[in-house]
Amino acid sequence: MTNFSYVIIGSGIAGMSAALRLAEKKMGKVCIITKGPLISGSTPLAQGGISAVTNLKKDSYESHILDTMKAGQYTNNEKNVKILVESGKQIIEDLQRWGSIFAKKQHLEGGHSFPRIWNAKDRTGNNIAHALANNIVKHKNIIVQEHSAAFHLDIKKNIIFYRNFSLQQTFALHFNCLIIATGGYSSLYAASTSPPGNTGDAIAMAMQAGIITKELSKIQFHPTVLKKERFPRLLLTEAIRGAGGKIITADEKEIVNPLLPRDIVSHAVWKNEMNGKNIFLDARNITNFHEKFPFITNILLSEFQINPETDIIPITFGAHYCMGGIATNENAQTNIENIYAIGECANSGVHGENRLASNSLLEGLVFAKQAVDHILKNMGKNKTRFPADEKNKILYPLFISSDKPKEKIFFECIQNTLSQYVSIERTKENLQQAKNIFSKMKPVSTREENALFMALAIVEDCE
Ligand code: FAD
Ligand code: SIN
Repeated sequence: MTNFSYVIIGSGIAGMSAALRLAEKKMGKVCIITKGPLISGSTPLAQGGISAVTNLKKDSYESHILDTMKAGQYTNNEKNVKILVESGKQIIEDLQRWGSIFAKKQHLEGGHSFPRIWNAKDRTGNNIAHALANNIVKHKNIIVQEHSAAFHLDIKKNIIFYRNFSLQQTFALHFNCLIIATGGYSSLYAASTSPPGNTGDAIAMAMQAGIITKELSKIQFHPTVLKKERFPRLLLTEAIRGAGGKIITADEKEIVNPLLPRDIVSHAVWKNEMNGKNIFLDARNITNFHEKFPFITNILLSEFQINPETDIIPITFGAHYCMGGIATNENAQTNIENIYAIGECANSGVHGENRLASNSLLEGLVFAKQAVDHILKNMGKNKTRFPADEKNKILYPLFISSDKPKEKIFFECIQNTLSQYVSIERTKENLQQAKNIFSKMKPVSTREENALFMALAIVEDCE
């Protein structure tokens, strides 16, 4: 078996930036295990940008903290929100040092009281992911195992097992320190903005190993998602509303203030749809839309023959972001010694009930830094901090088998069930209905088993 000082699972913004910070300190070998290619996950899809207070003359940390708390309905972990916001300036400088190139002007987005969204037009995540990846491949202390899904964790022996799809082989790695950075699980929903791999299988794996999770039912629905069959659905960035886009009915009546936090806007879209109305994003008043949002313009025109400068755009809401995840503290520590969780797979409490736009890329970077700083200061000294949680004990035996042709049907059943019964408003009857369907499903692979485990955990957390 191979030994690594540090193993990181996932290569989104959280995993890649943690790897770079560890490698820069020359503290030992880092191995990244990632299900996709090095550039994968939600990170390269991120559009609007990354929020950060950098203009301290006109903007303030207090204002960003207040906006974050307000969007989160004041249920956020205030101490961690402060860390998040006050690290913003340094984080932007680090990204620039790593080669990210931002537009000169910052965007305004829903819920923010100042245009503080650093962006590369509507391809911010792609720009950042490439900059991080360009640095990763140059570091000889970072080894990347692509197309490899972690599926089993032994916390007593500090071993992580993963399956390499290209080689069709299973491997085990011994680690001194493990960082879980595997993103969210919104792809368990049928209408989702997230890539197909974001099913939360590594969170299920962590739970089965005894790692505590929190608030798994807190899923954020984005209000402006293109209403066309496609997986993932095309996101129409919040920055379009920041630039003047409106949300209207077919007879051009505005249904909601488009700059309110996204849970409120999503609820308005959902409610109108429930009343049988078709809803549209109207961006026709935005001058030079194609220059401001070139990526979106391109896809709308080439794939859907919609011209956003002259046509209204059919929209719906879609599962977008998971506030719930592995419970972590201000240093991204889990309840298990030397195991950290960062980015969207973690619940550090910074988002509360509802994440403020563009706070997620920031969170991934900030808590990757918190984790690495803590690892370097305390290697070997950590102690388990939370009591063991009975709820997180193994529910299904783990076994390995290759992908089955029926897997697609299995996943679609989970996605349709969650979309239908565990959506924006959740009733007791609907939750019971979802449970009934899930209880009849029989997983035949580890992937299916983990997906079902997550789906059930979401429903149980609603209760
Ligand atoms: P991800 O970037 O999702 O990466 C997860 C990684 O884990 C991937 O490399 C994946 O391959 C790997 N992985 C998963 N499971 C396993 C496993 N079992 N074994 C091994 N590897 C595994 N946020 C903002 O702040 N601003 C935005 O403008 C913005 N726009 C968005 C637009 C879209 C369309 C979407 C979907 C999200 C957007 N978000 C935005 C949210 C933000 O992009 C994500 O929350 C953030 O990128 C998550 O980063 P991450 O590193 O935690 O996870
Ligand atoms: C968007 O660009 O609307 C997404 C921003 C985010 O998820 O924070």
